[in-house]
Amino acid sequence: MSTTRRTFLGGALGAGVALTAPGCGIDLLPGQTGEVLRSEARLPEPFTVPLPVPPVKKPVRTAGGVDYYQVVQREAETEILPGLRTKVLGYDGLFPGPTFDVRSGRGVVVEHVNRLAVPTSVHLHGGHTPAASDGWPLDLVLPQGYQQDQGHGSHGASNVSQVRREHTYPNSQRAATLWYHDHRMDFTAPQVYRGLFGLHLIRDAEEDTLPLPHGDREVPLVIADRAFAADGSFRYPALDPSLRNTPGVENDYMEGVLGDVVLVNGAPWPMLEVDAARYRFRVLNASNARRYELELDPGPAKLVQIGSDGGLLDKPIEHDTVVLAPAERFDLVVDFSSYPVGTEVTLVNRIGQDSTARVMRFKVARKASDDSAVPARLSSYQPLRVPKGAVRRKWIFQRGNIDNHKGWLVNGKQFDPSRMEARPKLDGYEVWSFVTDVHHPVHVHLSPFQVISRGGTKPGPYDAGWKDTVDIRPAEVVEVLVRFREHKGKYLIHCHNLEHEDMAMMAAFETT
Ligand code: C2O
Ligand code: CU
Ligand code: CU
Repeated sequence: MSTTRRTFLGGALGAGVALTAPGCGIDLLPGQTGEVLRSEARLPEPFTVPLPVPPVKKPVRTAGGVDYYQVVQREAETEILPGLRTKVLGYDGLFPGPTFDVRSGRGVVVEHVNRLAVPTSVHLHGGHTPAASDGWPLDLVLPQGYQQDQGHGSHGASNVSQVRREHTYPNSQRAATLWYHDHRMDFTAPQVYRGLFGLHLIRDAEEDTLPLPHGDREVPLVIADRAFAADGSFRYPALDPSLRNTPGVENDYMEGVLGDVVLVNGAPWPMLEVDAARYRFRVLNASNARRYELELDPGPAKLVQIGSDGGLLDKPIEHDTVVLAPAERFDLVVDFSSYPVGTEVTLVNRIGQDSTARVMRFKVARKASDDSAVPARLSSYQPLRVPKGAVRRKWIFQRGNIDNHKGWLVNGKQFDPSRMEARPKLDGYEVWSFVTDVHHPVHVHLSPFQVISRGGTKPGPYDAGWKDTVDIRPAEVVEVLVRFREHKGKYLIHCHNLEHEDMAMMAAFETT
């Protein structure tokens, strides 16, 4: 049992809720909510490890136009820091997991087999997924023989259907960069931290017609910060080696766990040799709590944004810097032909400190021909207008003290899987206002949304396109327009700072 969480939940009964005032000194670092865990291991010189790219997952069979995949969740030892071994919890034992590369409209079934020592739940982030496959935090994939709820003396062996679980993903949505990750109630943060995350790319005919960089020049960049013990193992608060029945977070780190090593695709501050040509980078912030402000150093190349969480923008946006909160994706094109061959271009993090102020480096290795382009018009995407009669709901994300037990709350309440906070109708338009005290990246399952206002004025520079996660700054209000189109059932809205999520900053809604 998670003592911290259980005490917190226990203390909630019948107690009054005292919310803290906005911005009351919780931010310890500029632009961050969280506390830094320092590595004790010897860290490599930055920009010496080559950038790895996760392998593309192959189906085990195809039948009736559906591709069937199997993923085995298992422990593995991998070399993340040169010369040291790190035990990871990996999809197929990989850190990050394999990349799914699928077509819009072509369904897939992914069977997950749990060979770990802990229960898991698999969520496809950004997927328009039927509720039964969405990775509800109690829809567990159990290890063989795992005794659930040991506290109540239950010795029943696991149900076979729970040891393996099939997830049906229709992929009936436009091309986009999705990701899948663990979503086990109370334990998402430590389990994602130890490796349970990977990419799921959807492609479609509209995107195929564009002359965007592709092949070796389309590269995923999955950014995540971690801290390492002297022996190379991950440091994480209250991380018991067996990982069984340990709290997801403890009070000291409830603001969020920040590491001091920046990993890209699982490698510390890696290096990538590039042609003097355009590249398409699908950037995912898979960190538990850390935000980044990315910039290329030196210029002149810009970060040209072509897509967001939910796929292509209508037109490209040129950024000097890009701010990414946890779980956000930015599809960026960089033109390295603006640099002389031999230039080393560092991707820096403007809101990092010391070791976290840099992310990775590109070395412009050679001249090369390039027939790619970034068209002025990318997609037929249309901005939505708020129709008359749209339903309005407010979602307040705040820290709360219940009987002196700290936690994170949505609308003054901690997550209760049996309570539906809203029952939106399919096809109805809803304006949801997200209100915060400190930084909270707010994520909605099932359908993407469009940001319609930020801080009472127009959307910010990173709000364009279809989003499913939006970075909300301290004491800010962001309004989004959302419309659930299909799939009736129970879904989640939550903060994607994973320590906040595990400390109950999540709410359920049911589409009807
Ligand atoms: Cu990426 Cu509910 O999560
Ligand atoms: Cu999600
Ligand atoms: Cu939060």
